[in-house]
Amino acid sequence: MHTQLEELVAKAQESIAACRTPNDILDARAAYLGKKSVLNGLYARLRELAPEERPAFGQLINQARTKIEGLIAAKDKEIKNAVRAQQVQQELDPGMPGWMSPFGSLHPVTIVRKKIEAVFMSMGFEVAQGPEIEDEYHNFDALNTPQDHPSRNLADTFYLQNGKLLRTQTSTVQIRVMEKYKPPIKIISPGRCYRNDKPDPSHSPVFQQVESLWVDKGISMSDLKDTLQNFATAMFGPDVKSRIRPHFFPFTEPSAEMDISCVSCAGEGCRVCKQSGWLEMGGAGMVDPAVLSMVGIDPEIYSGFAFGLGIERIAMLKYNIGDMRILFENDVRMLRQFRGESL
Ligand code: PHE
Repeated sequence: MHTQLEELVAKAQESIAACRTPNDILDARAAYLGKKSVLNGLYARLRELAPEERPAFGQLINQARTKIEGLIAAKDKEIKNAVRAQQVQQELDPGMPGWMSPFGSLHPVTIVRKKIEAVFMSMGFEVAQGPEIEDEYHNFDALNTPQDHPSRNLADTFYLQNGKLLRTQTSTVQIRVMEKYKPPIKIISPGRCYRNDKPDPSHSPVFQQVESLWVDKGISMSDLKDTLQNFATAMFGPDVKSRIRPHFFPFTEPSAEMDISCVSCAGEGCRVCKQSGWLEMGGAGMVDPAVLSMVGIDPEIYSGFAFGLGIERIAMLKYNIGDMRILFENDVRMLRQFRGESL
């Protein structure tokens, strides 16, 4: 029986080593450890032995059983690992797109504002900031605006308490900068402005302007025209033309309105430019000597130009958006188009 046991273990070892699948393992377990197995039969045959031989032989059978169980368990693990590795191989497709987690983007108005800042900084302008809650002095008085000027109207301006208001234009920052610094001054100032306008395709009660101010000895209208053309080229490409037309603002003299050739039809005339071939960009002019005097800059020595551009308008032209309200509704379908947009 001794040799029979040894042969049995050797045979089991051999067939367990030959197992390839989980089913092979089940078969091997049944064959060598199951009820009908040779090993199990040996327990019954213990009775054939002399009583004093039984414990020692019983122990031998148990040892053989433990050995076979160990072999099967080890092989079982090996096969399961191999099967899993194979599954991973089949499931893993490195070409498959990953899980996309939604990520945010800058708002088109922010993208355009940053582009504008970059263009002016490349021309040597610094970026200045001013408060959105202003006083009448900086929004109107210091800008040479007469008491009866329509822009001061309650119907046009949001007044707060204690003579404060929401600034209606970034021209306030001209005053704040000139109060604090002496020429040469060469700044732009982008930011929000507020006017009591009903929202429509080209108006919003909240909008952004970028103010530009360059004060130094000998600054003239040609510097203004140059700066405007450089900006238009950097923003809309080399084919865009610019022009200024006479206009009026209380704080500039002479005053002008700035146009660029239509970026949609290249000046042919279309729906975007209302057949005129030109697009209004904002107001401009030479800083009025009265304004310079008000902030303590001698207009006999210094001169300067200023202009103000509407940022939403530029964003609408750049991204072909026909209605300003789209920029404020923040429909994700609109915002998604700006994912990954570089500045
Ligand atoms: N502040 C003016 C406006 O909002 C624009 C402007 C700025 C005009 C600077 C002249 C000089 O309409």
